[in-house]
Amino acid sequence: MDNEELADREWWETTLIYQIWPRGFQDSDGDGEGDLKGIINRLDYITNLGIETICLNPIYVSPLFDSGYDVSNYTDIDPLFGNLSDFDNLMQEVHNRGLKVILDVIPNHSSDQHEWFQLSARNVQPYIDYYIWTNGSIDKNGKNIPPNNWISTYNDENGSAWSWHDKRQQWYYHKFHSSQPDLNLRNEKVIKELMGIFDFWLKRNVDGFRINAVPYFFEDEALRNESFVKKDIYTFGLPESTALLYIFREYIDNWVSRNNATSKLLIAESYDISDDNLLAYYGNNTHKGIAPLNFKFITHIHNNSNATYIKHILEKWLKLLPKNIMTNWVLSNHDNSRAASRIGFNRIDGLHMLSLLLPGQAYTYYGEEIAMLDTKIFWNSTIDPMGCARGINEYKYFSRDPARTPMQWSSKSSAGFSINETTYLPIHLNYINRNVEIQRNRIRSNLKTYKQLVILRKQPVFTDGDYEFVSLNNDRVLVLKRSLKNYPLYFIVINLGLRQEKVNLTSIHANLKNTLNMVVASSNAIRVTGTVPRDNFILTANAAVVLKSNEKQEQTTTESIITTSICF
Ligand code: NOJ
Ligand code: MG
Repeated sequence: MDNEELADREWWETTLIYQIWPRGFQDSDGDGEGDLKGIINRLDYITNLGIETICLNPIYVSPLFDSGYDVSNYTDIDPLFGNLSDFDNLMQEVHNRGLKVILDVIPNHSSDQHEWFQLSARNVQPYIDYYIWTNGSIDKNGKNIPPNNWISTYNDENGSAWSWHDKRQQWYYHKFHSSQPDLNLRNEKVIKELMGIFDFWLKRNVDGFRINAVPYFFEDEALRNESFVKKDIYTFGLPESTALLYIFREYIDNWVSRNNATSKLLIAESYDISDDNLLAYYGNNTHKGIAPLNFKFITHIHNNSNATYIKHILEKWLKLLPKNIMTNWVLSNHDNSRAASRIGFNRIDGLHMLSLLLPGQAYTYYGEEIAMLDTKIFWNSTIDPMGCARGINEYKYFSRDPARTPMQWSSKSSAGFSINETTYLPIHLNYINRNVEIQRNRIRSNLKTYKQLVILRKQPVFTDGDYEFVSLNNDRVLVLKRSLKNYPLYFIVINLGLRQEKVNLTSIHANLKNTLNMVVASSNAIRVTGTVPRDNFILTANAAVVLKSNEKQEQTTTESIITTSICF
């Protein structure tokens, strides 16, 4: 693509997003739980990091059984986090700093404490069909049994996704915990309620939404048994889910044009679904869609992934994208082991070089910038229902608590997260040495490298340029080349191996200048500045660098991937 032709993009297509797990970020009132005022107190940190958008996990009224993904009132703030006026202050403070905020919306299920469910259970109109109720069957001993073999993710209720409700004398469906009944999204009244929720938060100036648990929106109406031999087909990834995303997009776009507002960032959460299905989320010729969160780093890349494999995974996804469509990069989140624990503590800077310097949105999960690790949580401190349901012997394979522990701000007590010595989940013992304050004061740290990359990513070569992945040194070195006409060339070089590698870039690019400038280096690299020879430079184990070759690109070498957005 030509420099003169740089795309005119929506703000959200390349925005850098910081995901905040509100319980774990900053406590302002000493109860040991993070809250909205705490987030306000840390906005300068976020701005200084170069973040552009904050994604808040649920803050609505909730029994907090599933840390807020069990909503009992979608249009108010849980007292644990503050109140609506704290929220308005947060929005004000965020917007004053030029930042944006997106909220997590949970259309698939509510809490069983939501008024809708309470009324539905008592057969009160218009709520009777707000959830998925059925009579089930009677076995040969005359016992009431669930209507089919559908299973819940949380494995409570002996694994069945159906729970019996004494009051209504019927079964209700819940893909997740039994306290999270699935809403009946085939009921127009429920859809209207959801639109009302969008309205409520749009009026309060939010800049977009993360749409939770999309593949679970709909289930087979005939309640047919899953065979489980193949993937679930009656409870997962029904085409109606994609169609509902298009409806959300249209509704929100219309709201934007009616209110003369700036366009909104919408993003859909979906794991384990086919690439074809994910691509359909983006929209088609008749419907604008909602981009799916790109979890390839989480689902496919591990601590032993080699360069060819990483190249294959990332390139495959990029090549599948329709022309002019941008993707996003997620290294970690609240549902998975932290990136530094999963892919390698020493590799986090190299991973940031990829997630921040590939085209599209980038997501950073709080603490990732200082390479926070998973925290060991004992059974008696476990709160995640996914862990609790599995019992003392197995909880550790399922609990998501280790990745949700308090942000490590400083070496003070409770890591500067709270004045309370008891925090909602225990703090990682390494907080004394691994925290923001220490990393800010060091000449080299994960935080320092992260910030340099954030500045670099704003260059048009990274937002609009071409990309090319190359595997070198027997798959131990991964190179990502970024190029754009009239811009210098950039090479991101990552040693994935456990020993030092000699790197020669001459095979990657013809007529490369003799030396390249080192622009950013991982905190574990030996050298951080100066020049390196194009054909012989050393990268120590797990080190990574961004190199710049000063000649301007006459012509792009690979096909341009992304220009303007047509599908949003
Ligand atoms: C996906 C969310 O990310 C996860 O944290 C939650 O438990 C489930 N959906 C159920 O809402
Ligand atoms: Mg559902």
